[in-house]
Amino acid sequence: MLNLLKHPLLTHKLTHLRRKETDTKEFRETLEEIAGLMAYEITRDLPVKEITVETPMAPCTTEELAKDIVLVPVLRAGLGMVNGISGLITSARVGHIGIYRDHETLEPKTYYCKIPAYIQEAVVMVLDPMLATGGSASAAIGFLKERGAVNIKLVCIIGAPEGVERIRRDHPDVQIYLAGLDEKLNAEGYIVPGLGDAGDRLFGTR
Ligand code: PRP
Ligand code: URA
Repeated sequence: MLNLLKHPLLTHKLTHLRRKETDTKEFRETLEEIAGLMAYEITRDLPVKEITVETPMAPCTTEELAKDIVLVPVLRAGLGMVNGISGLITSARVGHIGIYRDHETLEPKTYYCKIPAYIQEAVVMVLDPMLATGGSASAAIGFLKERGAVNIKLVCIIGAPEGVERIRRDHPDVQIYLAGLDEKLNAEGYIVPGLGDAGDRLFGTR
């Protein structure tokens, strides 16, 4: 299911991210802030368990998160979303999946994977700012499912209709979260209007 997150602050920051004049430093900071704002909505349905703590005054029966949270950024650009979310969920563990798109075929190529143990019980959040054809995200999710993950959320900043459709088809059980749903892909597989190449803008590689 697609969850398109709408909030004036989120839209304002996304506008700044899209602007071509936004430099690497600001791009990095804004991406992190957007991921943090999105985290509030993404975590809305996390299961909680009842516990009792001692306040300075008396025992208090309250709740805390019931499940482990595992963040899995898709390298490279997903790295830019980790701090914004782990700053709020400080107990989150982080796995990494390295995937790049072949520029000719747009097919995803996996080159690295290090995932925390016991992801079967965890809520796993796949992080990647761009959901274009959906090939990279679909491959990352498939990879995590092979390793036992069952509760997976896909967190992207901007998506194209083609990518949303691909995830719906390949992984109908996965919740998709976006801050912006754009019009289309161009002939090179870039999201239009989008924000350009997220990895290059984040790391200043072009
Ligand atoms: C970008 C982006 C996604 C992928 C999206 O990564 O960060 O991972 O493209 O495209 P898709 O939905 O069509 O698969 P890229 O391949 O540019 O790798 P990089 O981050 O290492 O530059
Ligand atoms: N990857 C990006 O970084 N940007 C796009 O628009 C599409 C894929």
